[in-house]
Amino acid sequence: MMRDLYGQVIMDHYKRPRNRGEIEGADLEEHLLNPLCGDEVTIYARFDGDKLADVKFTGRGCSISQASASMMTERLSGKSREEAEAEVKGFKKMMTGEQEFPETDDLVALKGVIQYPSRIRCATLAWDAFQNGLGIDQ
Ligand code: FES
Repeated sequence: MMRDLYGQVIMDHYKRPRNRGEIEGADLEEHLLNPLCGDEVTIYARFDGDKLADVKFTGRGCSISQASASMMTERLSGKSREEAEAEVKGFKKMMTGEQEFPETDDLVALKGVIQYPSRIRCATLAWDAFQNGLGIDQ
């Protein structure tokens, strides 16, 4: 039951991606390819001072990688650089089982992927791209 719900969240973002598109003259533009499958994402961001005024993505690939990118853009929009860094680290910790998110958090929909180790990279692809774009070591 819960699992169906999580699947629905993922499919909803996959079919109706939020913030999909390029940002002309973006302050951050980072492409990342998953060499194992050829799926890819590019993350674009525009800062207004320290705040992420706009975060978008383009890409193609599996439902998890594209849904996760869509969810990430929603999560990071409006955040400061520092808050965004914390969000990325928190998400990646959830995906390694080191941190729990509240059940009500949409991102928990991606946690089920932990059971399929080869798919974890699908869920983290966009987040890794953003982190690379910020110039943070992973
Ligand atoms: Fe390629 Fe998911 S199968 S990123």
